[in-house]
Amino acid sequence: MGRSTWKYQVFFLFCLILHSQLPFPSSLSTSFSSMPPCSALLHFNKSFSLRKSASFYHPSYPKTASWQEDKHCCTWDGVECDKNTSLVVGLDLTSSWLFGNILSNNTLFFLPSLRRLNLADNHFNGSLIPSEFGNFKSLTHLNLSLSVFSGQIPFEISQLSSLVSLDLSKNGLLVKAPVWKRVIGNLTQLRELLLDRTNMSSIRPNSLMNLSSSLTTLSLRYCDLRGKLENYILCLPSIQTLDLSSNSFSGLLPSSLFNLPNLSTLDLRYNQLVGPLPSHISGMNLIVLSLSSNFLNGTLPSWLSSMPSLESLDLYGNQFVGEIGEFKYNSLKYLNLGYNKLHGSISRSVSRLVNLTTLYLSSNNLSIMLGSEMFSKLKNLEILGLSNNSVSINNNATYALPNLQYLYLDYSNISEFPIFLRLTTNLQSLDLSNNRIYGQVPRWLGDVGNNSLDYVDLRNNLLQGPFPILNSSNLRFIFFSRNNLTGEIPSFICNATYLQVLDLSHNNLSGMIPKCLVNSTFLSVLDLRMNSLHGTIPATFAIRNNFRNINLNGNQLEGPLPPSLANCRDLEVLDIGNNKINGTFPYWLGSLQKLQVLVIRSNRFQGRIGNPKTKIPFPNLRIIDISNNQFNGLLPIKYFKYLKAMMNVNESEALKYMGDNYYHDSLNIIMKGQYIEMERVLTVLTSIDFSSNGFKGEMPKIIGSLKSLKGLNFSYNNLIGYIPSSIGNLTNLEWLDLSFNKLSGEIPSQLTDLTSLAVLKLSHNQLTGHIPSGNQFNTFNNDSYTNNSGLCGLPLSRTCDNHEAKQPPPPTLQQDENLEHENGFGWQAVSIGYACGTIFGMFMGYLMFKIGKPKCLVRMVKLEQHIMIRRLKKNAHKRGGRR
Ligand SMILES: *[C@@H]1O[C@H](CO)[C@@H](O)[C@H](O)[C@H]1NC(C)=O
Ligand SMILES: *[C@@H]1O[C@H](CO)[C@@H](O)[C@H](O)[C@H]1NC(C)=O
Ligand SMILES: *[C@@H]1O[C@H](CO)[C@@H](O)[C@H](O)[C@H]1NC(C)=O
Ligand SMILES: *[C@@H]1O[C@H](CO)[C@@H](O)[C@H](O)[C@H]1NC(C)=O
Ligand SMILES: *[C@@H]1O[C@H](CO)[C@@H](O)[C@H](O)[C@H]1NC(C)=O
Ligand SMILES: *[C@@H]1O[C@H](CO)[C@@H](O)[C@H](O)[C@H]1NC(C)=O
Ligand SMILES: *[C@@H]1O[C@H](CO)[C@@H](O)[C@H](O)[C@H]1NC(C)=O
Ligand SMILES: *[C@@H]1O[C@H](CO)[C@@H](O)[C@H](O)[C@H]1NC(C)=O
Ligand SMILES: *[C@@H]1O[C@H](CO)[C@@H](O)[C@H](O)[C@H]1NC(C)=O
Ligand SMILES: *[C@@H]1O[C@H](CO)[C@@H](O)[C@H](O)[C@H]1NC(C)=O
Repeated sequence: MGRSTWKYQVFFLFCLILHSQLPFPSSLSTSFSSMPPCSALLHFNKSFSLRKSASFYHPSYPKTASWQEDKHCCTWDGVECDKNTSLVVGLDLTSSWLFGNILSNNTLFFLPSLRRLNLADNHFNGSLIPSEFGNFKSLTHLNLSLSVFSGQIPFEISQLSSLVSLDLSKNGLLVKAPVWKRVIGNLTQLRELLLDRTNMSSIRPNSLMNLSSSLTTLSLRYCDLRGKLENYILCLPSIQTLDLSSNSFSGLLPSSLFNLPNLSTLDLRYNQLVGPLPSHISGMNLIVLSLSSNFLNGTLPSWLSSMPSLESLDLYGNQFVGEIGEFKYNSLKYLNLGYNKLHGSISRSVSRLVNLTTLYLSSNNLSIMLGSEMFSKLKNLEILGLSNNSVSINNNATYALPNLQYLYLDYSNISEFPIFLRLTTNLQSLDLSNNRIYGQVPRWLGDVGNNSLDYVDLRNNLLQGPFPILNSSNLRFIFFSRNNLTGEIPSFICNATYLQVLDLSHNNLSGMIPKCLVNSTFLSVLDLRMNSLHGTIPATFAIRNNFRNINLNGNQLEGPLPPSLANCRDLEVLDIGNNKINGTFPYWLGSLQKLQVLVIRSNRFQGRIGNPKTKIPFPNLRIIDISNNQFNGLLPIKYFKYLKAMMNVNESEALKYMGDNYYHDSLNIIMKGQYIEMERVLTVLTSIDFSSNGFKGEMPKIIGSLKSLKGLNFSYNNLIGYIPSSIGNLTNLEWLDLSFNKLSGEIPSQLTDLTSLAVLKLSHNQLTGHIPSGNQFNTFNNDSYTNNSGLCGLPLSRTCDNHEAKQPPPPTLQQDENLEHENGFGWQAVSIGYACGTIFGMFMGYLMFKIGKPKCLVRMVKLEQHIMIRRLKKNAHKRGGRR
C-alpha cells in the first residue's frame, strides 16, 4: 500500500502542474439594459404558460402562479434578494410547470445581479440556450437540467467564470470540442459539473484531465464518451462523486480512481472496462461503488469487505470469480453481485447486514442455505434475488422477512415453498419458476402479500392438485404454466380485476372457461393452451377490451367461435387449434387490424372460405394455419391478394420477438414438416398452412406475390392443374409442401430460384417431366417426389427419355459440408445479448428456445444453424456431385 501511495503523490504533483497552466478568465463585457428587476420578472413570467405536464418530478407546483404585482418581487416564491442591496440574486423555479420558448430577448436577461438560477424540470419547448446566458457574470449556480432545451451548449457559457455549479443534464444537448475546451479552461471555480445525456461523442476522454481541480461532483452519464480511461486522466483531487456510467469507456479499470482521497461515490456502470479490481487501495471512504455491467474479472479483493462506510456495492454482470468474503462492517444497504461466476457459500457475515434492503446474488454458482441463521436478522430486506444458484431450504425454523417485496428464486433447484413467505405481507413479486417444487400448493400461499401481490410465477414446477387460491386483489400477472394442476379454474380469478396476464398453459385443468375472464377489460394475455377445458368459448368479449393474445390450443372446446371476438381490436395472436370448434371460416376476424397470427388448425370448421367482407382483410396477418379442418371450395384468391404483411416483411429491421415485456408469444406450428412448439416467435416468420382440408381447383398465381413467405403448405387437398411458376418469386420460402394433391404438369424450373428452400414435398401428385436441378434442388432426395408416375431424372432412378428431357446441367453444388452432415439443419448454441423484446443480433432465424425468463440479460439461445450456413454458402461454391 505504501508503494502505491508514493506513486499517487507523484501523480497528483503532475495534476497540479497541469492545472496551474490553465488560462485565467478575463473580464466580461455586459450589455444589460436597465429594466427594474420586478418588471423583468413579470415579463419573464408572461412569456410562459403553465402546464402541469411540463414538470416531471413530483410533487411540483407552479411557483409563479402566486406572484402578485402589488407585492415586491423579493417576497415572491422562488425569488431571492440580497438583504442589503435588494437586488435579485436568486431565482429558483424548479418544477414550476413553465412551458414555452426562451428567446434571446427574454427579460430574464435583464437580471444581471443573478447569482443562482435554477430552471430545472420545466419545458422550454426545444429552445436553444440563448447566448445571453453568458451575460450573468455573477452567476455561481446554473441549473437548466431536464427542461427541454435543444441544440448546442453555447460557448458563452464559458464566460461564466464564477460558476461553482453547472447542471445542463438531461436535455440531449450537444457539446462540441472547442466549446468544451473553453468551458473546462475558464470555469476554474467549478465544483459541480453535471452533463448527463449530453452528446459528447466528439470529446476525447483525455480532455477530462483539464477539469477544474476543485471539482467535487462530475456526472457524465449517457454522454456517448468512448475510448480508454487511462489512469492519468482522472486527476481530480477533490472529487467526491464521479459518475461516468453508461458510456463506452474501454480498457483497464483505472486503479488510480480508488486512491482519490475524497471519493465517496464511484459509478462506472455500463461501460466496457476490463481487468481486475486493484488488490490494494489507499482511500477507504467509499460509500457507493457501482461497477456493474462491465467485463471486470479476477477475485473480489479483501478491501471490498473492509470498507467501514460502504453502503452500496454493485458489481452485477461482470466476470468475477472466487468467494464472497466476510464483511467486516455492517453498513451495507445494497449488495448486488448477480451475474458473475462466484462460488462457495454466502459468508455468515451477510446475516449481520441488518440494514440491507437489497441482496441480489442471482446467476452465480453459489450454494445457499435459506434458513433462519442466514436471514432472520435481515428485517429490512426488500429485494432478495438468489435465482440460478443452488439453493436449499431449511423450513424447520420460522423467521420473517416482513419487508420483503421481491423474491427471485427461479432456477434455484428448490423442491418446496420457503416457509418464511407466510409472514411476508408486503410481497409484490414472487418468482419460484423452473424449480422442482412438487405436490399441492400450501393454503397459506394465498395470503402471501395479502393485498400487494402483483406478480406470481410458479411456471415449470411439479405442482399438483387444485388451483391455488390467491387472495390479493392486486394481481396482474399469474404464471402457473407447465405444472400438473387439476380441477377447474377457480372463481376467485374473477376478483382479480386488474389481471393482465394469465398463463395456465400445460396443466390438467378441466371445466369451463370462466365467463369473467373473457369479459375482462384489463386482460391482455389469456394462455390456457394444453389443458382439458371443455364447453364453449364464452361469448362475452367486452366492447373495449385489451386482449393481445388468446391461446386456447389443445383443449376440448366446442361450439362456434363467438362473434364478440371481433371486439378484440388489439388482438395479435389467436390460437384455438386442436379443439372441437365448428362453424364456417371466421371471416369477421379480418377486420382486426393487428391480428398477426391466426391458428384454427385441427378443429371442425367446414365450408367454403368465400370472399372477404372487409375491404382489406387481415392486413397484418403473417401466420395462418387452418389445416386439418373440413374446408372446401377454391383456394381464397381474394384473401391472398391482400395479405400485405406476407408481402413486405422488412428482414433487415432489428429482430423482434412477438409479445411484450412480460409474455413472449409462443406457438405450435408445423414447420419444415415437424410439429414444434416455439417458445419465442420472431416477427419475420410468415407462413400459410391450408393442409388436410378439401380444397379443390388450381393454385392461384397470386401466391407468388406473398414474397415474405417462409412456409407454404397445401398438402392433402384436392388441388389440380399446374404448379404456378410465380412460386419461384417466393425467394424467402424455406418449406414448400404440395404433396397429396392432384397437381399435374412439370415442376417449374423457376423453383430453382428458391435458394432458401430446405424442405420440398411434391410426392403423391400427377407431376410429369424432368425434375429441375441446381441450387437447393440438388439437395432433395427421392421422398420429395415419390408417387408422381411421370417425373424423371435425379434424384429418382427413372431416367428421362432424351426426347422429353432437357440435358441436365452439370451439378453445381453449393452445399456446405455441415449442411450435408446435419441433413438439412441442426441446432447450435450461440451466446447473444438481447434487450427486452429486441435483439440487436446480426443473424437470422426465428426459433429461439428460452432458457431464462424474459429479462434484459445475456442468455444462451439456440438458433437455426442452417440459416447461418446459408449465408456462408454464398461464398463457398463447390463442385462435385452428392450421391
Ligand atoms: C422577442 O422576439 C420575438 C421574435 O424574435 C418576438 O416575436 C417577440 O415579440 C419578442 N419579445 C419581446 C418581449 O420583445
Ligand atoms: C475565458 O473567458 C474570457 C472572458 O469571457 C474570454 O475572453 C476567454 O476567451 C475565455 N477563455 C477560454 C479559454 O474560453
Ligand atoms: C481478465 O481479463 C483480461 C482482459 O480481458 C484478461 O487479459 C485476463 O486474462 C483476465 N484474467 C482472468 C483471471 O481471467
Ligand atoms: C443502520 O441504519 C441506521 C439508520 O440509518 C443507523 O443508525 C445504523 O448505524 C445502521 N447500522 C449499521 C450497522 O450500519
Ligand atoms: C429439520 O427437521 C427434521 C426433523 O425434525 C430433521 O430431520 C432435519 O435434519 C432438519 N433439517 C435441518 C436442515 O436442520
Ligand atoms: C398429473 O396428475 C394426475 C392426477 O393427479 C396424475 O395421474 C398424473 O400422473 C400426473 N402427471 C404428471 C406428469 O405428474
Ligand atoms: C371476491 O371478492 C368478494 C368481495 O370482496 C368476496 O366476498 C368473495 O369471497 C371473493 N371471492 C373469492 C372467490 O375470493
Ligand atoms: C361484463 O362486464 C360488464 C361491466 O364491465 C358487466 O356489466 C357485465 O354484466 C359483464 N357480463 C358478464 C356476462 O359477465
Ligand atoms: C357445433 O357444435 C355444437 C356443439 O358441439 C353443436 O351443438 C352444433 O350443432 C354444431 N354446429 C354445427 C353447425 O355443426
Ligand atoms: C414474379 O416476378 C416477376 C419478375 O419480377 C414478375 O414479372 C411477376 O409479375 C411476379 N409474379 C407474381 C405473381 O408476383
